[in-house]
Amino acid sequence: MRILTGIQPSGQIHLGNYFGAIRNILEMQEKGHEVFLFLADFHALTTVRDPAALRQMTRDAALDFLACGVDPSRTIFWRQSDVPEVQELAWLLSVVTPMGLLERCHSYKDKLAHGKEATHGLFAYPVLMAADILLYQSDLVPVGKDQKQHLEVTRDLAIKFNNAYGEILKVPDAYIPESVATVPGTDGQKMSKSYGNIIPLFDTPKKVKTAIMGIVTDSTPMEAPKDPDNCIVYSIYKLLASSEQVDEMATKLRAGGYGYGDAKKALLAAYHDKFDACIARREELAAKPEYVESILRDGAERARAAAAPTLRAVRKAVGLE
Ligand code: TYM
Repeated sequence: MRILTGIQPSGQIHLGNYFGAIRNILEMQEKGHEVFLFLADFHALTTVRDPAALRQMTRDAALDFLACGVDPSRTIFWRQSDVPEVQELAWLLSVVTPMGLLERCHSYKDKLAHGKEATHGLFAYPVLMAADILLYQSDLVPVGKDQKQHLEVTRDLAIKFNNAYGEILKVPDAYIPESVATVPGTDGQKMSKSYGNIIPLFDTPKKVKTAIMGIVTDSTPMEAPKDPDNCIVYSIYKLLASSEQVDEMATKLRAGGYGYGDAKKALLAAYHDKFDACIARREELAAKPEYVESILRDGAERARAAAAPTLRAVRKAVGLE
């Protein structure tokens, strides 16, 4: 089975990205599936206008993934812009894309509501994302729930293209396990770079602590019983801690005499248990920029080779060859 996902290098990666996409990719890699993972720098250009910042964030994101355990001997890992073929497929898909399909996309409307400029790139974003997926004939795409509609657009476009030109593109499925579909941020909304509510995966211990200690809680006094299901700290703890630890926290919250501050300390400890080894690995990798660059270049070559037969078939089908 071929698994593919992408992430925008448009800011620090956070627990939402980790549980929504990265962890699933790591699991697939362990199971021996064919895994394709890329840094969506073309997409990041819809919101990042500073070239130096884009370069830096792309390098950082590469380090983040490798530090988390992406293994380039098993996973094809590349920078989206190193495979320009994806733009050609995006155009060939865009000519069969109804405007209405894009006009209905929540993510576009949400970005405008958050003050982003209404550019053609932002509007056409889902078409490029469909090209990312369809170029590699992907079977399964692990993403968070916020990308569900984009996956539906991808499926629609594959079907439209196939109806017009014959069965060429594989119609992929989204993979969105319910438990990680939407990781909450420190304010309880979806964790998102653009909402300023993230718990970063890689930052100084002080910043991580500040983010965790800043999680919004209600004003139930320390002594009073608390409902774990209405507690953001607990929902994030569930992702990080073992099931015994999770049950223990739920019991303590329900019993009373256990404050939100205590729960936050437990969450911080669980964060360090889970990610300290990754943080150390990231530091080692950061000292080897040429090595990281060589992984991305090698990944791009392998991705281009995998893309070539699809693009050839598509060009032939539409009459360009
Ligand atoms: P991006 O960069 O916004 O996010 C990367 C991945 O993290 C998931 N995610 C979350 N999951 C659960 N809870 C959250 N709070 C949370 N926040 C983010 C996202 O759903 C995503 O899976 N359009 C994509 C990038 C992309 C892509 C692709 C993905 C471009 N081409 C092709 C898959 C296939 C995006 O903006 O992700």
